[in-house]
Amino acid sequence: MKYVFGNWKMYLDFDESNILINGLLQEKFDSEKVGLAVFPSTLALREVTMSAKDTEFAVGAQNVAWVPKGAYTGAVSAQMFSDVGCHYALVGHSERRHVFGETNDDVRKKIEACLETNLIPVVCIGETEDDLEAGKREYRLKKQLMKAFENLELNGGKVVVAYEPVWAIGTGKACDPATAQEVHAFLKTELKQYFDADITVLYGGSVKAENVVSYVALGAIDGVLVGGASARLDSFTELIRAVEGV
Ligand code: 13P
Repeated sequence: MKYVFGNWKMYLDFDESNILINGLLQEKFDSEKVGLAVFPSTLALREVTMSAKDTEFAVGAQNVAWVPKGAYTGAVSAQMFSDVGCHYALVGHSERRHVFGETNDDVRKKIEACLETNLIPVVCIGETEDDLEAGKREYRLKKQLMKAFENLELNGGKVVVAYEPVWAIGTGKACDPATAQEVHAFLKTELKQYFDADITVLYGGSVKAENVVSYVALGAIDGVLVGGASARLDSFTELIRAVEGV
């Protein structure tokens, strides 16, 4: 089974999100072949969750606050997302880290909050172009993993990791599949330090219908986290169909 997760970012308004989930549900994808989730905006999330209830699509939040409730203007907690039927939450997405200044410490608190409320955190990590040029890819990834997972108690919960090289996100410059496979193998080895269980690791960054098979055909790549190509019915359907055929 391979996973295809669609991060709709802030691409779609309320109506567009509902039209897209309803269109996807008409397609009747094969849940034995592909594990599906979408991450709508917070505004549309409740409605999308209701439409997707008991279907092949799980729903996740794009970001969570770690405190369950309180005086945190503009925030929505992991607990609140869990209460309305979310299964997953993206944590530490590159845009949260680089546009909104989220730190490794914030990421850690969000992971813990997700686990406390039965949400599966999809922990996003990745090196920047500067890291890459300075030969610091492994250093960056090791550090992000350590800060996220050292001494973390899963308590029966689960985590997913998404390797999203920052330079590949929204640029059309996808990481070449052989390199992605090597990085995933490295991440899986690193993750053994923190968890007994095998951790699902997704690749993200300029994935489209045309290149998705070159990633999911590789053993260490458990699936993909898709941005732009997940926000349209035609491109996302084509992409999921390609993965179903693997
Ligand atoms: P793109 O697929 O648009 O490059 O975005 C990747 C991403 O950020 C998914 O979380």
